[in-house]
Amino acid sequence: MKKIVFATNNAHKLEEIRQIIGNMFEVLSLADIGCHEDIPETAPTIEGNAEMKARYIKEHYGIDCFSDDTGLEIDALDGRPGVHSARYGGVAHDSERNIDRVLSELKDIPLERRTARFRTAITLLQDNMLYTFDGKVEGRILTERHGTGGFGYDSIFQPIEGDGRTFAQMSGEEKNAISHRGRATAKLVAFLLTQHH
Ligand code: IMP
Repeated sequence: MKKIVFATNNAHKLEEIRQIIGNMFEVLSLADIGCHEDIPETAPTIEGNAEMKARYIKEHYGIDCFSDDTGLEIDALDGRPGVHSARYGGVAHDSERNIDRVLSELKDIPLERRTARFRTAITLLQDNMLYTFDGKVEGRILTERHGTGGFGYDSIFQPIEGDGRTFAQMSGEEKNAISHRGRATAKLVAFLLTQHH
């Protein structure tokens, strides 16, 4: 099976991506290629960060790869946390703190004005060509957590296209079918398939 590196060590993301393309590619993580350093993500946009990560892997490890970056944009917060989603609560990758800060900043905002979206940018660096694929899902931020599945902000995000459940109340397949990363991944996969047939 053809190998492809996904520039992440996030077990949830790896599992999601493997659910989608696992029958076509052996998806390797950063740990699988021996990369244990913290890759800089200091660009002002999610597209910039995805590109930064992919270029870093190419430069330091010499292999083609794809990387992703996701942001949650909340309209009542002028698009925040956006590119700062991972460390919004002050500690990198502490989802509980991130959610606490979002809920407290939105506490006086009624449900109809709690509109938000997840946006994902995936960058594929292949044969020195750079390709970008995007995906988004519209929804709103609930006033408290619902569900225990998924990760990150899933328990407070209710997608518009669903039946009222949050992403954290859905199965992986249900979330992937409408999610930001699911959609960006579908574009990546369609592109990869045109090359491998
Ligand atoms: P990154 O793309 O891993 O940098 O993600 C940025 C932030 O968004 C992190 O806090 C993640 O937990 C969160 N995040 C990324 N993807 C998702 C998702 O599918 N659902 C909920 N939160 C997510």
